[in-house]
Formats: sequence, structure tokens, C-alpha cells
Amino acid sequence: MSDMCPRSLGACIPRVAGVRAVPPGSSVSAMPQDTTIDIGRPVSGDAVDLILDDHRRFEDLLRQLRSSESDRPAVLAAFAALHVAHAEAEETHVYPQLKKRRAVDADEADHGEHEHAEGNEALLEVMECASDDTQKWADAVENLSALVNHHLVEEELTILNPARDELGPRVLAELGEKFAAERNRQIDADCGRIENVRRIVAQAEREGLIDD
Ligand SMILES: [Fe+2]
Ligand SMILES: [Fe+2]
Repeated sequence: MSDMCPRSLGACIPRVAGVRAVPPGSSVSAMPQDTTIDIGRPVSGDAVDLILDDHRRFEDLLRQLRSSESDRPAVLAAFAALHVAHAEAEETHVYPQLKKRRAVDADEADHGEHEHAEGNEALLEVMECASDDTQKWADAVENLSALVNHHLVEEELTILNPARDELGPRVLAELGEKFAAERNRQIDADCGRIENVRRIVAQAEREGLIDD
């Protein structure tokens, strides 16, 4: 891999979709490209169900990333796109709605955003590894797995349970549509490319969500 990828692993991983990443609210002209790994493309559904579906995808992709039999660059590309898109969609639509309806308080939502930032920082460490067969890479994947798994557990316990308790089916369906639209828009915009992950991590550092 090193002859094909002199700068970093993440810089040469296959693209999952699109050609550019854009902030929430702006339009996207790029069309999605084919990927060998299916990360789903829901357009509607109960928001909590859609989020849980992605959480299972995260767990599966992390398992594949750890396996030496996987196409690790392809798995990493899929994981990066899904992680960025899912977190952006939660922060843009789900957390604000849950705060507005007092299903979660500001501290819980802020904590979720902090954990997204930690996950993105750990993801970037993996993407910046020069090779996927070194101890440095294994350590970075172990750290990424630990942080993401911790976040999934905590989010399911402290955010998704109250969402189920406090929001009715109609609101959860409306929220699911918005979550899916933003998630898919991010993926179409190639949100998992390394330049965009670097941008997001740098922004999180500026906002004090993680240490620089
Ligand atoms: Fe989530
Ligand atoms: Fe989350």
C-alpha cells in the first residue's frame, strides 16, 4: 500500500460517494458514486430506528476493520462516510429537536457532540496512518473502536430511550425523514474524505469540543 499511498491511508482510500463535503443547509450537485460496501440509504422511518440501524452498521464496520481478511481501505472509507454523516445529521436535526421538546437537556446533547468530535479525531488518526499493517494502525483502530462503542452505548441509554418516551410516532417519523435527508446529503457530498474529516476536527478544536 505504501507505494500507492505515500501521504496517508485516508488520502487514498476509495471514495464512497460524491466529490465534496458541504455544510448543512447548502445544496449538493454531485451524484453518489458506487461503493462496494453498502451503508444504506434510507429516506424515511422512525428516527430512533434509523439511528439504531446505523449503530449496528458502525459495529459491523469496526469488526470488519479489525479483521486482516477485510479490504481495510474500503471498510475505512465506508466507516468514515457513515460516521461523519450520522453525527452531522444527529447534531443538525435530532439533538436540537430533543432539546426543544425537553426529552434531553443541553448537557446531554453537548456531551453527545463532544463524543462525536472525539470519534472524528480518532477516525482521523486511523486515516492518517501510512499503512494498515503496523502497530500504530492497530492502536488507532483500538482507540476508535473504544470511543465509538462507548458513544453508541451511552447515546442509546441516555438519548434514544428518552426520545422514544417523549416523542410520539408522528414526530419521530418527521424527524426520521430529516435525519435521513441530511445523512444522505452528507454521503453524496463525500463527507468522509480526509480533507473534510480534518476540517471537522479542526473546527471541533476551535470550538473547544476536543483538545488541540
Ligand atoms: Fe448515533
Ligand atoms: Fe451520536
